[in-house]
Amino acid sequence: MTDRSPLFTPFRLGTLDLPNRFVMPAMQRGMCENGSPKPELAAYYARRAQGGVPLIIGESSAIDHPSATIQPNSSWLTARTQHAWARCVDAVREAGGQMLLQLWHEGAVRNDDDALSPSGLVHPGKANGRAMTREEMTAIGEGFVRSARVARNVGAAGVEVHCAHGYLLDQFLWHGSNVREDGYGGADIADRVRFPAEIVRAIRAECGPDFLISLRFSQWKEVAYDAKVAADPVELERMVTTLREAGVDVLHCSTRRFWEAEWAGDGKNLAGWVKALSGLPTITVGSVGLDTDVMTTFIEGKNLASRIPEAMAELEARLAVGEFDLVAVGRALIGDPDFVRKLECGDRETIRTFARADLGSLEWDTSIIEEAHRAPA
Ligand SMILES: Cc1cc2nc3c(=O)[nH]c(=O)nc-3n(C[C@H](O)[C@H](O)[C@H](O)COP(=O)(O)O)c2cc1C
Repeated sequence: MTDRSPLFTPFRLGTLDLPNRFVMPAMQRGMCENGSPKPELAAYYARRAQGGVPLIIGESSAIDHPSATIQPNSSWLTARTQHAWARCVDAVREAGGQMLLQLWHEGAVRNDDDALSPSGLVHPGKANGRAMTREEMTAIGEGFVRSARVARNVGAAGVEVHCAHGYLLDQFLWHGSNVREDGYGGADIADRVRFPAEIVRAIRAECGPDFLISLRFSQWKEVAYDAKVAADPVELERMVTTLREAGVDVLHCSTRRFWEAEWAGDGKNLAGWVKALSGLPTITVGSVGLDTDVMTTFIEGKNLASRIPEAMAELEARLAVGEFDLVAVGRALIGDPDFVRKLECGDRETIRTFARADLGSLEWDTSIIEEAHRAPA
């Protein structure tokens, strides 16, 4: 691959001048203790920045509200953990990169009776915890803002609001988990997007115009692969336009395989549709360089094969026509921190392929997710 590849052309994202189109997406790696990133997490991020990734998104961090998670190995983004996060941001910057920190609340995926969510539903037919009161929504929104303020104070270029994969804010977006009747849920996408948009607007007001806000969303859920937040392009347009008006700078469109068309009749993937409908920059993601998607890795523990030549040719073709702007690479960057540098140097053959064993033993409670796949609703 030559340096004329569209993957290696610069891109200006907000105030950031990115030298190429690669992003490392948020990935929990079990390198936190008592909610704080250990030094090895800072070194792990910095190593990927050294390997040529200009924008690193920190692993999902619980926002500053006690209901955000009970996962023992998760990070938190609060005043208590800010020094450890500052170490990550500084290490990445010294290696030539920039960081966004990801703001996360588990919602009904939190597996206990105290879980809070829009309607007490994980997915249709599966109840867990209870529906949040309006007062709790206000308090959780304030928790998102406090955590965004911590991200700004530690020098992150911005935050990514985690609105994907079936966690709290995605539970608001999806009708299957949001049947509220108070203007924040139900059949109308304009109601379901209201709470995420209010959170974005509050972060923007708190952190100012130069602070990057990415919002990550997905149609699919860890508990329901075929779910759709937006049934068609009309609904998608209403959703992404609302988010843009609230202050989102970039939409990170999570799919399990980047090459899949979002709707029949048009080859564009989700990031392609969102870019066209919102006018915002978009990030695509999903099995770049690999033949097996992330959930198959988690649930079936299946091993993977490299798919680098196909992936790069397809990404270049799609970037060349402006379908999306940036490309997130997850597992392939766990497998080889020099993935980007090696592509740039035409050194593909030496790229080490990610293996399931690279994840080590994941000490997450995934019981709700596994149950959903045993007995789909
Ligand atoms: C170990 C691991 C942890 C993950 N943790 C998160 C997370 O914290 N937040 C998030 O939004 N996505 C998370 N994901 C999903 C990834 O960000 C990414 O979307 C997914 O792995 C697909 O990209 P890939 O096919 O290039 O791996 C995780 C994925 C992996 C493999």
